Amino acid sequence: MMQTYRDLATLRICIDNWKQEGRRIGLVPTMGNLHAGHYALVELALQHCDAVVVSIFVNPTQFGPNEDYARYPRTEQRDAEGLAEAGAAALFLPSVDAMYPFGVMGCVQMHVPGITDILCGAHRPGHFNGVATVVARLFNMIQPNCAVFGNKDYQQLQVIRYMAEELSFPVDIISAPTLRETSGLAMSSRNQYLSEGEREAATAIYRALCTMRASCIAGTPAAQIEREAETELQALGFTVDYAEVRSAMLAKESRAVDKKRVALIAAFLGRTRLIDNLEFEIL
Ligand code: PAF
Repeated sequence: MMQTYRDLATLRICIDNWKQEGRRIGLVPTMGNLHAGHYALVELALQHCDAVVVSIFVNPTQFGPNEDYARYPRTEQRDAEGLAEAGAAALFLPSVDAMYPFGVMGCVQMHVPGITDILCGAHRPGHFNGVATVVARLFNMIQPNCAVFGNKDYQQLQVIRYMAEELSFPVDIISAPTLRETSGLAMSSRNQYLSEGEREAATAIYRALCTMRASCIAGTPAAQIEREAETELQALGFTVDYAEVRSAMLAKESRAVDKKRVALIAAFLGRTRLIDNLEFEIL
């Protein structure tokens, strides 16, 4: 039976007991407003550990001043029911004060160099510092053996891997495949901002990624692929932040040393910013 904790000290007692029993602890950090993609993260975590702790925390430090922090949907009750069904052992719901005891302005911050300045980092300054800051805190608070993150947030995953390795966090970082609607639309909490028409239009992102993959495998230069994807999406009403082909480690295509590639898109439909990606290998 899943227990809910708002207080870290009480959660720690529970985690210490599990550890004494020899159980491996898994963490699934979330911002709530959960959907099937999140429940799949819990199910994957359960394949790697014995007790899964899910955190729900809408993290103010990763939102820019004009972003959707205030309107980010908070659906605690429904999320708790879904998590219990998915097999989570504990739900952690820290307050902003508990997460940032010296206040958001006074908090110690993480900065992962390089990788945080490109792609989404270039369009959302400070975003990945906020993500790394809160994930490091959650790792310290919960001290999990493993933590699961969705591949849909591809750059975020690379930032977290870099941070965990560089700071020697004893946490295995596990990535979970992106769950898609039958239309191809990647599942995301932000999809619920979309009108019915926008939801239909949003499926163009996945189609564009598939075209980018096909063109890259066919040998079309990255710059041309990117230009064509951007033009196509703009014609369909998107405001495109980027449509790029990169190496698996997010280096520019021309600097890629192996055959692994990822096509990435971030684009606004109305006020809603959508991101998605597709990994593949060139021949
Ligand atoms: O991917 C998310 O939901 C968030 O960025 C995360 C990892 C929970 C940190 O707030």
